Amino acid sequence: MASLTIRKLDEAIKAELRQRAARNGRSMEDEARTILRDAAQPRHEFAASFDGSAEQPAAPLGEPAAVDGQPRITLIVGGGIAAYKSMDLIRRLMERGFSVRCVLTAAAQKFVTPLTASALSHQRCYTDLFDPMSEFDAGHIRLGRDCELVVVAPATADLMAKMANGHADDLASAILLAANRPILLAPAMNPLMWNNAATRRNVAQLVRDGVHMVGPNAGEMAEKGEAGTGRMAEPIEIAAAAQAFLRPQQAQPLAGCKLLITAGPTHEPIDPVRYIANRSSGKQGFAIAAAAAAAGAEVTLISGPVELHDPAGVHVIRVESAREMLDAVNAALPADVAVFAAAVADWRVESEGGQKIKKGAGAPPPLLLTENPDILASIAKREQNRPPLVIGFAAETEHLLDNAKSKLARKGCDWIVANDVSPATGVMGGDRNTIHLLTRAADEISVESWPVMSKDQVATALIARISKAVRTTES
Ligand SMILES: Cc1cc2nc3c(=O)[nH]c(=O)nc-3n(C[C@H](O)[C@H](O)[C@H](O)COP(=O)(O)O)c2cc1C
Repeated sequence: MASLTIRKLDEAIKAELRQRAARNGRSMEDEARTILRDAAQPRHEFAASFDGSAEQPAAPLGEPAAVDGQPRITLIVGGGIAAYKSMDLIRRLMERGFSVRCVLTAAAQKFVTPLTASALSHQRCYTDLFDPMSEFDAGHIRLGRDCELVVVAPATADLMAKMANGHADDLASAILLAANRPILLAPAMNPLMWNNAATRRNVAQLVRDGVHMVGPNAGEMAEKGEAGTGRMAEPIEIAAAAQAFLRPQQAQPLAGCKLLITAGPTHEPIDPVRYIANRSSGKQGFAIAAAAAAAGAEVTLISGPVELHDPAGVHVIRVESAREMLDAVNAALPADVAVFAAAVADWRVESEGGQKIKKGAGAPPPLLLTENPDILASIAKREQNRPPLVIGFAAETEHLLDNAKSKLARKGCDWIVANDVSPATGVMGGDRNTIHLLTRAADEISVESWPVMSKDQVATALIARISKAVRTTES
């Protein structure tokens, strides 16, 4: 039988083979053998013979991380009630140009079938660690390597416990232990399971191990009458987080720039159980932070209390009151750009009660207010360490442009993003925004009115403007 002589291959093929072999942790000879073995396998046309069961012929696994220019994702579906949403996630990932290979745990198959996953992904679905058709070439290792990213959705409490402790007693956990690609988890479970000390320990361990998380979100659970943190992030959020991972190939106009962003409301305590707040959801500030990270910036996001998960690649600092936010902002300086999107309370209660104020027989207690520190003005007027570009937000319910112009002058910032937050607009807490961007050059103020956009689109457009301004300053 003829032996393989790599030396005789032409240089381009050798280079390709070298890369592939390195990626798969094999010698070049072994990689060439794998390719030949795959090529010699009878090809089973998926559509013709497919029944979605484990008896389906194995799709060749010895393939690179991208097929036909489509980056590959291995999607592991755990046994949670949110597994049905992962069937939609397959479509959302494919819409974004990913090729998706699914792995279902035994418990996941109680909720969704391999047939559904195969039909939606147009590929074989993997379920069995001891499947001879895929294990002829250690398929459990390849599924965590011949891809750009491994996504686990839903990531059950059980799967995370196994990962944190290095178990590998089924196909999903063996892939996760053998993976050499980034891993993105979308946890989903009952709030009591999520808050259980064991899960907290496992999550902390996984984060230390370099595993990435999207969600869980807060809200109603499948269990009747239960609510809290534990809902799986929506498929569209998981797909966006997956895409953000693979974005480094895209232009990164803010690479090397440090952005400081504030978001959300502040809570100003009245006594240990009561506080003054506002209706800010933090969505716009979080979207700006995500867009800045996607543009390559190093982002610190200082947020008041909101029900939003940390955007991928962003350093998030959570605070409660305006004074805590100011301290966190000062500690995060220096920065190249500061965007103050938080709805900071103008006032706080002058003397916070040390104990819960009791309802008495007399008149209600008066709430004496005192002014909070002005975070935007204090940073914009700094003599030292002032970020070169300081951007404030003006949320107004009347005389929007007049108020925004006077805010720009009064606060000493460079730009104001003005938005109408009167209840009829639905901006506060909603997903859309109408922006007027006020910029200042010398004493001249220019106003740009943008069309109604989603908060994500506003964020992308604002980051594009910031990138342009940063580049102009640099050149
Ligand atoms: C109806 C039902 C719903 C469940 N939902 C969840 C869930 O959302 N999250 C979770 O961690 N476990 C959930 N479980 C428990 C898991 O199915 C169980 O821990 C299983 O062993 C997980 O296996 P896997 O991690 O291998 O997929 C649920 C169980 C049942 C019966």
